[in-house]
Amino acid sequence: MFPNRRNRRLRVNEALRSLVRETWLTPNDFIVPLFVVDGENVKEEIASMPGYYRLSLDLLKQEVKELWGMGLKSVLVFVKVPDNLKDNLGTEALNANGLMQTAIKTIKDTVPGMIVMTDVALDPYSSYGHDGIVKDGKIINDETNKVLAEMSLSHAMAGADFVAPSDMMDGRILAIRSLLEKEGFYDTGIMSYSAKYASAFYGPFRDALDSAPGFGDKKTYQMDPSNRLEAIKETIMDIEEGADIVMVKPGLCYLDIVRELKNSINVPLAVYQVSGEYAMLKAAAEKGWLDHDAVMLEQVTALKRAGSDLIASYFAKDVVKLIS
Ligand code: PBG
Repeated sequence: MFPNRRNRRLRVNEALRSLVRETWLTPNDFIVPLFVVDGENVKEEIASMPGYYRLSLDLLKQEVKELWGMGLKSVLVFVKVPDNLKDNLGTEALNANGLMQTAIKTIKDTVPGMIVMTDVALDPYSSYGHDGIVKDGKIINDETNKVLAEMSLSHAMAGADFVAPSDMMDGRILAIRSLLEKEGFYDTGIMSYSAKYASAFYGPFRDALDSAPGFGDKKTYQMDPSNRLEAIKETIMDIEEGADIVMVKPGLCYLDIVRELKNSINVPLAVYQVSGEYAMLKAAAEKGWLDHDAVMLEQVTALKRAGSDLIASYFAKDVVKLIS
């Protein structure tokens, strides 16, 4: 009780504050999303994600070397697929010599220790821009799972350490785990986007990959932002089906979910600070309305304080530069 307890006593200077600080960021906290495109010497800035680029394979090599040198040890790979290779079934996703499979090999050849995680979903490959196969205007679940499992196997065969299904079909973790086991990929992990909300924050990402849905929205498979219990149900089911790491996405609007899951599950929990979260801060900073670095650190710290063991973030490099 006051005055015996004066809380300001522990805030007196930075040395003392750092001694009692509860949350610290390190490079081990981060997963770095990477966007890969075909071509040579291509470094295209994504219009709605200033400072973030699509890279061709040659420049991808430099990038992963730089990341490794900074202590960043895991990447999450997305590819931009040309329109002429897109169809309803995501056929190109299974091409053993496709851009994703080549990117995995390129990263592993360049920095063998880098933990390569790969996006598993049909949307970048889908002529409809949906995460599953479309039939009569609906996204069909079980047939999609078969493709997602084949896609995961193809990534594992190319050398992926983790596959990261971001599609939100029911039962896809079981389908993927079963096929990986059957084919002997016992050590290939699954990081499941288990509580992925139908969020308006994904807009810039869809620009980056040209993957916006051609009709409708994703609300029949991604979660309603109003729901909390459903996030727990989804996540527990994914753990039961074999997910090694689970994820909440997006980040800042869903910190209650992060904390609640952290208190009740016993596998590592990732959070994805998504493209719209990145874009908002970039835009405000460009206008001079927010202090970019201070707000960035505050946001990422909040994600960790809420309970994230891993943070997929477009700010990863910027943060690591500031904290090291
Ligand atoms: C698609 C996918 C999306 C993101 C990751 N994987 C977009 C979507 O669901 O439409 C979003 C990531 C971001 O916004 O940064 N399977």
